[in-house]
Amino acid sequence: SRSIRLAVIPGDGIGPEVVAEGLKVLSAVLPSDVKLETREYDLGARRWHATGETLPDAELAALAQHDAILLGAVGDPSVPSGVLERGLLLKLRFAFDHYVNLRPARLHPHAATPLAGRPDIDFVVVREGTEGPYTGNGGSLRTGTPHEVATEVSVNTALGVERVVRDAYERAQARPRRKLTLVHKNNVLVHAGRLWTSIFERVGTEYPEVTTDYLHVDAATIFLVTDPGRFDVIVTDNLFGDILTDLAAAVTGGIGLAASGNINPTGAFPSMFEPVHGSAPDIAGTGTADPTATVLSVALLLRHLGYEAEAARVEAAVAADLAERDGVRRSTAATGDALAVRVATVGD
Ligand code: NAD
Ligand code: IPM
Ligand code: MN
Repeated sequence: SRSIRLAVIPGDGIGPEVVAEGLKVLSAVLPSDVKLETREYDLGARRWHATGETLPDAELAALAQHDAILLGAVGDPSVPSGVLERGLLLKLRFAFDHYVNLRPARLHPHAATPLAGRPDIDFVVVREGTEGPYTGNGGSLRTGTPHEVATEVSVNTALGVERVVRDAYERAQARPRRKLTLVHKNNVLVHAGRLWTSIFERVGTEYPEVTTDYLHVDAATIFLVTDPGRFDVIVTDNLFGDILTDLAAAVTGGIGLAASGNINPTGAFPSMFEPVHGSAPDIAGTGTADPTATVLSVALLLRHLGYEAEAARVEAAVAADLAERDGVRRSTAATGDALAVRVATVGD
């Protein structure tokens, strides 16, 4: 019989609230012959305050044994900024070589968005996940003096860029429109820009059916708002992808709907699925966070593990639920409950 060994990191703020609903829906959608084994990891602000630890080696090793990881969010106002973000979340992405950070953006007909009623928006951002300005290279000189100098070096390797660009071409090739847009800033960041642009062009010769174009990241933000229908697959650097995907979320129905997968396509390590949003300390504990982004991340997780029919059921349940609620706000648990009921019946 089949089984899923799932690691769960609820994390901080609204993380545990939305993860509980994601698990509810996951349990409801899985066929009865699939055994779901979850193990919860106590990582995040509470753990750090109690022990000073962010992600001990023993837990990293244990996490590596799972089929996949579901993460809520990390980061808390009581912990210095960056401690958990770097020491837990980015440590996981780097350790498990999650070089494809997959962030789909689809306009839901009933979602509350400034672009409601616009032509179909359906694109996916392939954000590089292990390099760029996220590597922690840099430092500060003469710290705390008026002459302080702080550097944050963006690291871009030929191997790292090529593997994510190739993945994006594969995804574009498999979609009906077969269009791939490189987003960078090669007019200013000329060293990294040249590497990305030349690899993008060279790999493109192997995908003659894929139409390509290039946008500077500033112009890309214009078109994400004024003409998002032009995008099919976007490939971009780690930081640009972070910013573009919050914007993409905002224009397609809100940050409460945006899902992501941190994928290691080689399968050498477990991939990790999480909502695009953070721990939302401003609404944590109010029971109002929208768990839909986590539920849609569960759909990405299911698809990654080969449960395509179940992934599609979750997505159909979300679409039906968005139509039913039609912009009306409701509690985290009410949405989770509604989706858990719906995945059991949708399409029947
Ligand atoms: P955020 O995404 O947590 O919140 C931004 C805004 O979106 C807030 O107003 C919040 O209430 C709202 N929001 C977020 N998720 C929502 C949901 N599911 N339903 C309804 N509203 C939602 O971003 P932030 O405020 O910049 O960061 C807060 C903390 O989270 C920081 O510590 C940050 O480092 C961390 N963070 C973590 C992740 C992650 O774990 N992947 C991602 C982003 C930010
Ligand atoms: C995200 C978050 C993270 C990122 C932070 C918390 C490290 O913003 O997942 O989008 O920048 O990747
Ligand atoms: Mn982000």
